[in-house]
Amino acid sequence: MSWEFSLPVKIYFGTDKIQELPKIINEYGYEKGVLVCSNTLKKNGVADEIIKNCNGKIVAVFSDIRPNPTTDNVNECVNVLRENNADFAVALGGGSPMDCCKAACAIAKGNDIIESYHTGGKPIDSREVIPMIAVATTSGTGSEITNISVLTDLSKNVKSTMNDPLMYPKAAIVDPRLTLSVPPKVTASTGLDVLSHALESVWSVLHQPICESCSVHATKLVFEWLYKAYCEPDNLLAREKMAEASIVAGVAFSNPRTAGSHACSFPLTNLYGVPHGEACAMTLDFFTRYNAEAEDGRLSKFAQNCGFKDAYEMADTITELKKKMGMACTLSEIGVKTNEEIETLTKMSMTPLMERNMIPLSYDDIKNMYISIKGDFK
Ligand SMILES: [Fe+2]
Repeated sequence: MSWEFSLPVKIYFGTDKIQELPKIINEYGYEKGVLVCSNTLKKNGVADEIIKNCNGKIVAVFSDIRPNPTTDNVNECVNVLRENNADFAVALGGGSPMDCCKAACAIAKGNDIIESYHTGGKPIDSREVIPMIAVATTSGTGSEITNISVLTDLSKNVKSTMNDPLMYPKAAIVDPRLTLSVPPKVTASTGLDVLSHALESVWSVLHQPICESCSVHATKLVFEWLYKAYCEPDNLLAREKMAEASIVAGVAFSNPRTAGSHACSFPLTNLYGVPHGEACAMTLDFFTRYNAEAEDGRLSKFAQNCGFKDAYEMADTITELKKKMGMACTLSEIGVKTNEEIETLTKMSMTPLMERNMIPLSYDDIKNMYISIKGDFK
């Protein structure tokens, strides 16, 4: 076995860590920043409070970002960074502001648009990059410590990842208190995204031991604390444990990346509007059972390390957890009505991410998987 591991992001974890943002900005010597966040955080005053605490170092806000950010969103964000001559940015939020800001920072000092890099093959140039500080307000994406940005190019109808070693955030602040206002449905979906990151990194062909240790820790935390955080949004301990699970799962998939469940999640989100983590979870129990058959017994050993009898028991627990939290489990629940749509979903799921699964899957394997969860239509 041969592998590599690198993670150049400084992590600041703990309740009320957000108060240290001004100090962190000063330590790095940054002068002029833009805050990139969702409209909700701008409207509810969280963004304003952060700007006030940063003593004039944040000079503008960009919040025009839709869920599952588009390349247009990134170009608009880049314009704000360039107009303000920003030498850093703070991304505040869940995956969408984070991914938008990460891509924008990667080209901020250049003069091109993001499409040239995202699907155009142009390499990121270190002279065009400005640093980003990521502040997570949900426990899910892990985007605050990865160099990956998932973007949708509406003109080409393509949703794909962009990544480069130069795209890692400089620092990540994870303050569980910021997640207290996340509603139960979002807690469920983002928590299942955490579980998908932890598990998919285990059955990725890029699997390796440092990341697997993180997967064990994150998986145990999710099974112990996610349902509690879902039922008791104000439970700070449950929020802290899920924030820990999220960041540790982020380390777990930072190098092995994700695989089949994320491959399937993209069309489920793009065509039917299923939130990202819920979309990943729709197939997570299938992939757990499928990979339980691996010859090296990797997944069963992993499941036992997480306290299960075997991988099948872990898969059953995932199914049960999804149901308890009201997540969609069948295609009919999300609006799929015809077998033609299953063909489309299958085609759109067969991406390079699917090829990372340790046991190869054919077109028919995925189609049969979709048929097995199709639910209530002929
Ligand atoms: Fe994800």
